[in-house]
Amino acid sequence: MMKTKVVFYSKTGNTESVAKRIASVLNADIERIYAVSDDPNIFNVELMLIPDVKNVDHVIFGSPVHGFSVSKIMNAYLNQLPDLKGKTIDLFVTHFFPYAWMGGTRSLKQMRDIIAYKGGTVRHMVSINWKNRKREMDIMNMISTFQNV
Ligand SMILES: Cc1cc2nc3c(=O)[nH]c(=O)nc-3n(C[C@H](O)[C@H](O)[C@H](O)COP(=O)(O)O)c2cc1C
Repeated sequence: MMKTKVVFYSKTGNTESVAKRIASVLNADIERIYAVSDDPNIFNVELMLIPDVKNVDHVIFGSPVHGFSVSKIMNAYLNQLPDLKGKTIDLFVTHFFPYAWMGGTRSLKQMRDIIAYKGGTVRHMVSINWKNRKREMDIMNMISTFQNV
């Protein structure tokens, strides 16, 4: 049977709440990335809990946007991953500023580039704007696109 896992980092809980909803609807495993420090400006990220995606067919990575970029903790996590060939990979970020170009799109591309370097192919990329009044609809639409594997 096909195995799906949601791997996320969250500093203030937004990404976490979305990750939990995805995992519950998709009946997927879910694991959080932990680092020694949650300081978004730390220079050297030291990961503490590193979710394994070895036997997962469909992986969903979720991260907040920090300073117009993917969070440093998600960045460090993706960079240490082994080969991702053959997996179906979906990405989402949560962000606060009103436009996707204010970090959302750029963060998703940064994640996609690291994954491509690991031999993986990204299927869907979704940016969730926390301040948008259509947020709920965006989240529900995202979950339904992630559902079809
Ligand atoms: C240090 C820091 C930097 C941030 N930089 C951005 C940014 O560049 N663009 C943006 O849209 N939101 C930015 N935000 C807002 C977060 O991306 C947003 O609140 C996100 O949903 C938080 O996710 P989390 O609760 O899972 O940590 C920033 C937040 C923090 C704490």
